[in-house]
Amino acid sequence: MPLNYYKEELKKTAESLAKSGKGILAVDESTKTIGKRLASINLENTETNRKAYRGMLFTTQGLGQYISGAILFEETLFQTHSDGELMVKKLEKLGIIPGIKVDKGLKPLAGGGDIETFCSGLDGLVERSSDYYAQGARFAKWRAVLQITNNGCPSKLSIKENAWGLARYARSVQESGLVPIIEPEILMDGSHGINKTAAIQEEVIKEVYMACKTNGVYLEGTLLKPSMTIEGAECPEKSNPKTIAEQTIRTMERSVPAAVPGIVFLSGGLSEEAASVYLNLMNKIKRKATWNIGFSYGRALQHSCLKAWDGKNITAGQNALLARAQANSEASKGCYLEGSQPSSDEALFVAGYKY
Ligand code: 13P
Repeated sequence: MPLNYYKEELKKTAESLAKSGKGILAVDESTKTIGKRLASINLENTETNRKAYRGMLFTTQGLGQYISGAILFEETLFQTHSDGELMVKKLEKLGIIPGIKVDKGLKPLAGGGDIETFCSGLDGLVERSSDYYAQGARFAKWRAVLQITNNGCPSKLSIKENAWGLARYARSVQESGLVPIIEPEILMDGSHGINKTAAIQEEVIKEVYMACKTNGVYLEGTLLKPSMTIEGAECPEKSNPKTIAEQTIRTMERSVPAAVPGIVFLSGGLSEEAASVYLNLMNKIKRKATWNIGFSYGRALQHSCLKAWDGKNITAGQNALLARAQANSEASKGCYLEGSQPSSDEALFVAGYKY
């Protein structure tokens, strides 16, 4: 369908996803990655266990109060809960919009630095997306990854290629009625300081929006999912939370068009509490554009929940999920009281993390 056909719907969906006080639950771990999570609680990576875990998440009563959308892996979009009902139905019953990760993963970038990648999955994307739409998905995610090193990464080539891929993806899924979440993640790996992250992130996001312009992406029907502006995990100088919040807002103000309805941050290896605290501080800053500043967390919403569930304790798992969802909902309005919800303070950063 031509993009014009979906414009109104795309704008509405994007605005519903970016509603103040709500955010996105990212549950789109690949089969390999969810396997690592399940292994951490001594569960085998079987379809039954993946279904049991995600089925527990999607039947959490009251979750829709804090969560506007859930990003699924393809398996889950077409999967039924153990009670026979489709997982997407479970989400709809909670008032949560189903979304789908549509990229096919990172591949080495020929001509780029050693560690550089591009994100694959453009072939047949318009057609795949219309199947996802028919199954109930209303938004999509594509994660491009850039890394800062002391020897020149991200290269100009990697910045250009990843921005172009994001824009091609965004345009393609919009033609099938899905709101694209545009995710140019800058990894926390490295020893660089926060100023370097800020300069590079500004360049990366500006390049993304230039490519969106060339591709005719309808910005009102998109969301941006960036990492926060923060120093590398091995940097000896640690910024305080207020500085991180200020630098992140400044980066966004310099690079994200006001037409974008929402910026939903990823947690990227921050601890559950840090992800909430930084988001809360960002929402206390008076900003120049009206985009909603929210969240689209994976690890920072699921970590203590997975531990509490432990393969069997459904209520404990659901309560832990609700606690972090509520914390982030409050943080996205700037009214989260630090430490007021239980969390795991475990640092979730893993060097060379593969999603
Ligand atoms: P994290 O919040 O764990 O970084 O995951 C969010 C996500 O969807 C990354 O693509």
